[in-house]
Amino acid sequence: MVKVLGISGSPRRGATEYSVKEALAAAAGVPGVETRFLSLRGKTIGPCIHCDYCKRNNSLCHTQDDMQGLYEHIVWADAYIIGSPVYGMSFSGQLQTFLNRWRPLHHVYRGLLRNRVGGVIAVGGSRNGGQELTCSAMIHSLMARGMVVVGGGDFDCYSGAYVVSHDKPGDGVKEDLIGMDSVRKLGIRVAQVASWMKQGQEALGLQEAAGSGASKGEVDLVEEEGS
Ligand SMILES: Cc1cc2nc3c(=O)[nH]c(=O)nc-3n(C[C@H](O)[C@H](O)[C@H](O)COP(=O)(O)O)c2cc1C
Repeated sequence: MVKVLGISGSPRRGATEYSVKEALAAAAGVPGVETRFLSLRGKTIGPCIHCDYCKRNNSLCHTQDDMQGLYEHIVWADAYIIGSPVYGMSFSGQLQTFLNRWRPLHHVYRGLLRNRVGGVIAVGGSRNGGQELTCSAMIHSLMARGMVVVGGGDFDCYSGAYVVSHDKPGDGVKEDLIGMDSVRKLGIRVAQVASWMKQGQEALGLQEAAGSGASKGEVDLVEEEGS
């Protein structure tokens, strides 16, 4: 099975959560695809303080907060669909904090995220409110981890899905028909490319489907005493 993790970077059950779930539903329609959804809503996740504990000890982060329970979902996935509300023409602080806390994965198992597939969704209150900039910032964040980032592969979804909510809560966003169409295209494309990548790597006999030296089961999620 190819595993796709949808992540909502909004602090509330709103338009971003709805959009990511729509993308996941479309992804789940691709044969052989399994999905999970993760929301940052209600999670207490502190910022990376650059103590380098992870780097010095080849360990996961020693800050004890809700992030500890989220690592296993990140490791589980072959592909990610990440959605954010547009905040000040970029992605949310909650998502930035969350993504920065991925750093230990990179240091514990260098390359774990390499060649995993990613796609992004930006949900703004206004049309042209910064959706493209937000997608661009998220794309570069994922590329910095070696991921293969895809768009929807079609019109209106060149580099991600751009959604307009007009600040309506929840499923009010489904009135944006073009946005919803692009969200679904993105979900399908992420699932397809992840599936082809995995099949290709297996056919070529590459050792690590995810580009990592470690199998997913080997990641040590046990808490450690820290400095
Ligand atoms: C702090 C803050 C900054 C925002 N900045 C923008 C912005 O720059 N451009 C925009 O289009 N919408 C902006 N919005 C509106 C949200 O992006 C919009 O309401 C979005 O649908 C919220 O997503 P959610 O319902 O998933 O929480 C901002 C909202 C907040 C709270």
